[in-house]
Amino acid sequence: MAFTTRLIVNTRQYAQNLTQDIDLASLSASKDLAFGLIGSILLLAVFAQWIVKAYKFWQYPFVNKAGWWNASKAKENFVWNAQKLLVDGFHQDFLGHLFTFQLFDDRQNFGEMVNIVVRTKLTQSLGLITKVVSEEMTAAIREQWTEDAEWHAINLKTTLLEVIAQLSSRVFLGPELCRNKNWQRITIDYTVNVFMAISAVKRYPKILHRIAQWIVPEARVVRTQMAEARRLIQPVINQRKKEILAENRSIFEKPTEPTRKHTDAIQWLYELSKGGDYDAALAQLSLSMAAIHTTGDLITQVIYDLCEHPDLVQPLREEAIAVLGTDGWKRTSLYNLKLMDSVIKESQRIKPAGMVSMRRLATENVTLKDGRRIPKDSMVAVSAHWNWDDSIYENPDQFDGYRFYKMSQKPETEQMSHLVATRPQHLAFGHGKHACPGRFFAANEVKIALVHILLKYDFKVDESSPPPKIFKMGWSMQSDYQAKILVRRRKEEICLD
Ligand code: HEM
Repeated sequence: MAFTTRLIVNTRQYAQNLTQDIDLASLSASKDLAFGLIGSILLLAVFAQWIVKAYKFWQYPFVNKAGWWNASKAKENFVWNAQKLLVDGFHQDFLGHLFTFQLFDDRQNFGEMVNIVVRTKLTQSLGLITKVVSEEMTAAIREQWTEDAEWHAINLKTTLLEVIAQLSSRVFLGPELCRNKNWQRITIDYTVNVFMAISAVKRYPKILHRIAQWIVPEARVVRTQMAEARRLIQPVINQRKKEILAENRSIFEKPTEPTRKHTDAIQWLYELSKGGDYDAALAQLSLSMAAIHTTGDLITQVIYDLCEHPDLVQPLREEAIAVLGTDGWKRTSLYNLKLMDSVIKESQRIKPAGMVSMRRLATENVTLKDGRRIPKDSMVAVSAHWNWDDSIYENPDQFDGYRFYKMSQKPETEQMSHLVATRPQHLAFGHGKHACPGRFFAANEVKIALVHILLKYDFKVDESSPPPKIFKMGWSMQSDYQAKILVRRRKEEICLD
């Protein structure tokens, strides 16, 4: 565009020079015609280039559009307001500038808050919360799969999503709300509802988005859930504030003091905000969005895989009995569940959450080490095909629960064998600077839940229900959300409570 703008300016100067140097009256009609023709061709060229550009980038939101005639204003805006432009640009993607979708409003910085809380506070507290998560699992699985010792059918994904919502909420919100059914429903449904609402609003032309958000029913559901989330959380926040005031001490005195009363994300977010105002409900929803469906999907797939490979169940039980029976619920016990770690990672290798990972938007031209260029504004992602590549894994199409266990026994492959280890050949949690910071918690949560399930239940495929399949939509790969399995309560060999 800059080139075409310059071309037009030069042509105008040229025309001005012409009018100064030459007596207009002496110009012949043919010269007029030629000049008009050149002008028209130039205008057409500019217009064609504008169309081509608009078509090339039609699927991206534009920020800081250059004027039709002159780009200097846009350039100046870029020089002085680049950060704002970037933030505004990203609001447009998830409509974060609209009231209904304020969760994505980067000015409120929920993404960054959640990132810091998970990276620092949650991961550092894993030792403190292991027992708490196990206690919650006792209640959650009893409610979902019952104490019935006869075989009965359950919908695997639905029940495990509820379980994971309850366990995660215990850590994110504390004991007050984690068993609240309304809260659990919101944390599970909000993620799906918000994306449905965004696409419903985007069906309208951009200029009508502000109005459409008040009309489309999907957006109304999102606002109702947001209001309900606030109504539920506010009393807990108020109570916490009261407690802090009553103790008459600043919560920032010893923020990592392990004996403090609450070890949950309400406390961590409050500490991070340094007592300032922040929208606790939206911060919590942001946490849930990152944590619940991802973890629920993983554990669901593990159970489907165990139904298909029942020979793994007994060795897994024996490992759990040996480790938990000796050490009880400690963070180190979870580390020592090596076969379980391997089985979960194998499930994730065959069915990660997506066929690609590390999706990015190039905000600048990038030149890779090998000289290849990624042009500015390109959307890029890294393929996860190595998961299924026989140059990396022997018999990659076969589920081998011991695959990563065997790797963990060899010093040269030990490091890369762990569930939480990321590398270019295993991108299920991303890799590098932005690799999932919640993976340490997710791995522990899944292991705690699996120990309870393995020791307390028998489970098998329900032959009367269609076999589970992997749902593939675009890049995404999701475990079956409809399939049922049969479960029955068994007597656990060791007490887990
Ligand atoms: C099995 C469960 C999980 C899976 C498969 C998963 C996967 C991922 C992936 C693929 C990414 C993007 C990485 C990238 O683009 O490079 C990510 C980012 C993230 N995840 Fe997870 N995740 C899981 C659980 C969790 C949990 C439990 C939490 C929070 C407690 C969490 C918090 C986050 C956050 C905050 C980010 C953004 C990191 C950043 O942008 O720097 N995740 N996750």
